[in-house]
Amino acid sequence: MFICSKCGYQSPKWLGKCPACDSWQSFEELEDFSRKSEVEIIKEKNTRPLLLEEIKRTEFKRIPIQIESLDGLLGGGIVKGEVILIGGEPGVGKSTLLLEVAQNLSSQGKVLYVCAEESPQQITLRAERLNIKNCKNLYFYPEDNLYKVYEEAKKDKFNFLIVDSIQVVYLPKVEASRGSISQVKECANFLTQLAKSLNIVVFIIGHVTKEGAIAGPKLLEHIVDCVLYFETEVSSNFRILRSIKNRFGPSGEIAAFEMTSRGLKEAKNLGKVFLPHKNRGVSGSTVVCIIEGTKPLLVELQALVSKAGFGIVKRRALGFDFNRFLLLLAVIEKRLKISLSSDDVFLNVSGGLRITDPSADLGASLAIISSFKDKEVLPDTVFIGEIGLAGEVRAVSNISMRIKEIKRLGFKKIVVPQENLKEIKKKEELEIISLNSLKEAMRFLK
Ligand code: TYD
Ligand code: MG
Repeated sequence: MFICSKCGYQSPKWLGKCPACDSWQSFEELEDFSRKSEVEIIKEKNTRPLLLEEIKRTEFKRIPIQIESLDGLLGGGIVKGEVILIGGEPGVGKSTLLLEVAQNLSSQGKVLYVCAEESPQQITLRAERLNIKNCKNLYFYPEDNLYKVYEEAKKDKFNFLIVDSIQVVYLPKVEASRGSISQVKECANFLTQLAKSLNIVVFIIGHVTKEGAIAGPKLLEHIVDCVLYFETEVSSNFRILRSIKNRFGPSGEIAAFEMTSRGLKEAKNLGKVFLPHKNRGVSGSTVVCIIEGTKPLLVELQALVSKAGFGIVKRRALGFDFNRFLLLLAVIEKRLKISLSSDDVFLNVSGGLRITDPSADLGASLAIISSFKDKEVLPDTVFIGEIGLAGEVRAVSNISMRIKEIKRLGFKKIVVPQENLKEIKKKEELEIISLNSLKEAMRFLK
């Protein structure tokens, strides 16, 4: 197969002049990558079923990116041949982060940054903001044809490849338009093969839109080795990067960054990021302690209950699982006999974090009730507990890990489920209050 390098027109034989764009001598031979690699794999591996003990254990050599929290997410660094997908809403900071990554990696090997989405001039503007000077090993390639990227990566022996973004690159053999499901999938497959065959690390940037675009990165999660998502609302200054999947390390971990005028800065002290402003005397605010991956995190929850106007009442939960939020409202209505049927209820997790740990139930319910009654919740206290349908407060996991973090951040009081009490050392320097049901929690409202 031959392809016109100017317009992508394909022909089974070589042509001197392209019938589509009239350019001369523009035809190049296309390698059929997919067929070739299948044959290669079969020949190379000569596979047979193996017992566990027969499998050679290989230690992965990790290459640190030298951004501490990102390395942590990746399990200590990247591994040769790894394909990493970085997703997030447009404008969240994907290109910014990867430009910093590119600079750091250029001290350890040759980096090819495929800037298909922006012109190199736009990249220079960003580089100026990030104070990135010319690096000898960092190349920018304004090209969207992945065959050419492959040729370049192979010819010049690049070690790291960054593709910005998967929605705008294409493979000429796929007839669908850029950003379509088949194009995006084939491109990701191609990049994965490229990573494995050239043994280089590939970063793929993918846009996720609020509406959850059909051809978004979700489609690629099973193809790549590691998936990182920026999950913060762009309006917030904090950016949470979460690892959803990692074949070479832990998943479910998070790292926090702050978007400044000079790029993304690591927010190293995660403990302080999600904690409240010191505005006392406001109802509807509580502090909970959740576990994200393996890290305990203190987070402020805020609720607002206000009289609804005409029509249907509103229920909104930002950063909190919506079904769980509805369930808590139902428990409050039924078990505490508090009618919310003519009120709008809003619940917000500070810092743009999305939480799923059920241990935040107690804090969330109390925040809602506090706003409804317009009474402040006991200050400087952390609330831990899962709420059951009968209004009971259930035990949570990893209580000692949570207590350690709570003490570190200087809180003096915690409210925990009764069932967890036996796991807690008698001599904690904290005031520990235990409870069995949501009803008992009413005494924490002033
Ligand atoms: P960008 O990395 O281009 O987002 P993405 O690639 O995910 O679409 O980030 C764009 C936003 O970040 C833009 O709104 C400007 C802001 N920004 C800063 O605040 N400071 C900076 O130093 C840079 C480079 C960008
Ligand atoms: Mg970008």
